[in-house]
Amino acid sequence: MSKENRYQEYDTWAWLYNQTMGPEYSKQQLQPIETLLLPKLPQKATILDLCCGTGHLVQHLTEKGYHVTGIDGSEAMLAYASLNAPEAKFILDDARTFELPYKVDAVCSTSASLNHIMSLEELKQVFGQVYLALKENGLFLFDLNHPSQMAKWWKGGIAEGEIETEYAWAIASDYNAKDTTGYFKVIYYRAPSQPVTVLGYLRQLLYKLLSLRVLTRFRLKLLARFPQWEKKWHSKEMTYYVKGYANADVRSALEAVGFIDVDLLTLEGSTNVDDNHSAYFICRKER
Ligand SMILES: C[S@@+](CC[C@H](N)C(=O)[O-])C[C@H]1O[C@@H](n2cnc3c(N)ncnc32)[C@H](O)[C@@H]1O
Repeated sequence: MSKENRYQEYDTWAWLYNQTMGPEYSKQQLQPIETLLLPKLPQKATILDLCCGTGHLVQHLTEKGYHVTGIDGSEAMLAYASLNAPEAKFILDDARTFELPYKVDAVCSTSASLNHIMSLEELKQVFGQVYLALKENGLFLFDLNHPSQMAKWWKGGIAEGEIETEYAWAIASDYNAKDTTGYFKVIYYRAPSQPVTVLGYLRQLLYKLLSLRVLTRFRLKLLARFPQWEKKWHSKEMTYYVKGYANADVRSALEAVGFIDVDLLTLEGSTNVDDNHSAYFICRKER
């Protein structure tokens, strides 16, 4: 694969990701990293965050005293990452072909970034590059959405979203079990600039109320009908494709490139990786 084929699809929504998912996901992903990875690393270890996005997780790890490098294929995501984690090093590159000029103690890749790799052959290529980037005995931790989980939860409806005063966003995801591919659609709405009317003010109050976690179901319902509800807001849609990998195939691909001690766990560290849980893999480069 040539360097021109770098994955750069997130350039189109880096701004939104930086405001919303970046900070949110990094807090969630810190939990498996803190329990499964960090206790096994030396103090001040070197860590590569592969597909680091807007660098929020990189910053959490830097604050803990680790020396972190982030790699991502999107220039716009990395522009935010450099602001969010000013002490870290960032490299614009593709997960399938990257080469690090130095070796690290651990590599992590979070928030199902590797589901964007669209074939098992290419996923194996990523694992091979990670293997090369690790020191002997180095650890690799990453999470993936897996087929039965996606078949259960990715059914075409709005799965996430928020409504702010000036903009709103929603994510709808769908999965085709037959060809094990899926996509998520990011729908972004922007309010027109106009004087706020009494009705507009009441709607803003409603949106504030709907931002409460307990009212998530109602917020998502409203977002599903948002174009009818806010007829004057401008909208834009972006689609991102993903592939579902059977956990057994991922394990075989890791072992094929030389990884050992492959463990498959949930975010909470349990071995019960069912259709309600993403799959977290942790493995080690042979000494
Ligand atoms: C869902 S975001 C996750 C970002 C970050 N890890 C987080 O937890 O917030 C997926 C990221 O993976 C990156 N990405 C996907 N495929 C890639 C590839 N082949 N090479 C480099 N980056 C890639 C995207 O640009 C995006 O920043």
